[in-house]
Amino acid sequence: MDIEALRAQFPALKRQIGGMPIVYLDSACMTLKPDCVIEAVTSYYRDFPACGGLGRSMHSFGREVDEAVYRAREAIRRFINARPSDSDWLDVTPTREVIFTRNATEAINVVARGFPFREGAAVLTTDREHNSNLCPWQDLEAEGRIRHLWLDRGCGDDFDLSELDRILEREPVELVSMVHVSNLDGSELPAAAVIERAHAHGARVLLDAAQSAGHLPIDVQALDVDFMALSLHKMCGPTGTGILYAKEELLEDPRFRPLLSGGDTVADTALGQPPEYLGPPFRFEAGLQDYAGIIGAGAAVEFIESIGVERIQQHVNALNAYVADKIEPLKDEFDLLGPEDAAMRNGITTLVFRRRGMVALVEEDLVGAAAILDRQANVMVRGGEFCVHSWFARSGIGREREKLRASLYVYNNRDDCDTFAEALERLVGLDEYQMLPRLP
Ligand SMILES: Cc1ncc(COP(=O)(O)O)c(C=O)c1O
Repeated sequence: MDIEALRAQFPALKRQIGGMPIVYLDSACMTLKPDCVIEAVTSYYRDFPACGGLGRSMHSFGREVDEAVYRAREAIRRFINARPSDSDWLDVTPTREVIFTRNATEAINVVARGFPFREGAAVLTTDREHNSNLCPWQDLEAEGRIRHLWLDRGCGDDFDLSELDRILEREPVELVSMVHVSNLDGSELPAAAVIERAHAHGARVLLDAAQSAGHLPIDVQALDVDFMALSLHKMCGPTGTGILYAKEELLEDPRFRPLLSGGDTVADTALGQPPEYLGPPFRFEAGLQDYAGIIGAGAAVEFIESIGVERIQQHVNALNAYVADKIEPLKDEFDLLGPEDAAMRNGITTLVFRRRGMVALVEEDLVGAAAILDRQANVMVRGGEFCVHSWFARSGIGREREKLRASLYVYNNRDDCDTFAEALERLVGLDEYQMLPRLP
């Protein structure tokens, strides 16, 4: 893979701040956008900025929107291997199993609010869910609609399948909702084994694939997963774009209520009668959509496909192993979360500093570790608790210990890793409250 040619397609990588190149290591939060995605978004606004929606706008612009949305949905269908529509629906949608959402969070909420839970049902997660796959279940529990249970997940290989079996046997779990690749530590769920066991006990499975899609090959039919939430802005797509994949049979269930209803979801309405809804995916996509975002998301998936997810995975894992080697001499300064083998952490390196209260004064601002790396070396990483506060609270790692997450994607190179390691070395060598100059 020619990384330099690939990097040239990401205009943000050409930026310099304070006269120095930037090092972007925050792709687990948001990936950068290639030219083809920017052009796809721009082309909508420039060339056909109209509304689509099942051939309602029968003018040229409307048809072009419908065609572009169709193509985007088909790209995503192909990418995750969702089932194609039957011939009755093929003209209007390539699949009934791909629903556009604003993000993975909304996709999970569609399931949380729509799934027809029986009374007394339980939802099982892991102990390290992103807040987006935790709060919806905690809210439902507070409303008395489900019980929320969790399982100690371990780091990938040491996931406790026998404990999963015990819970599934003992508890009325109707939905297992687990993070596929953890944004906390990069560890991967043994998804196939979890799905098989859940199904054997009559439970459905939702995978939070916000960190796995675009990093590892995904085949929803081979996995036999029931629901999957994807974050397309973590896959080079425009901001505010996501996907809910769901098996058609589940979306067809009239008891599965959409999060929103209204325009574009109905075949007909009449006063004094309930609306006559369209089938999926349209019943779940109320109102005019983010057409530019959807079209850009389709371009992003085509871009990833043109490189190949396996190649991206190889590149990211090899680079993460390189990062691990580079920071090895500093290892007494921090605890590293996740699998020991960096190549198993899906591009994520999360450090928890042993020293407490790592702060410095950069000119007049008192800033923490992540901001020091940024101000000193243009190295952009994530600080804080990565929306996994619940795991940190339970782990006993104090709030006052600084955390830092570097996350890689296809456009990162060894220079980025070298700059990160050097900046980290300078960081751990700092005295507290040291005055630092800003970048020139
Ligand atoms: C594991 C995981 N789940 C869910 C989310 C939420 O994704 P989104 O921003 O698309 O809602 C994230 C975002 O960081 C994540 O890492």
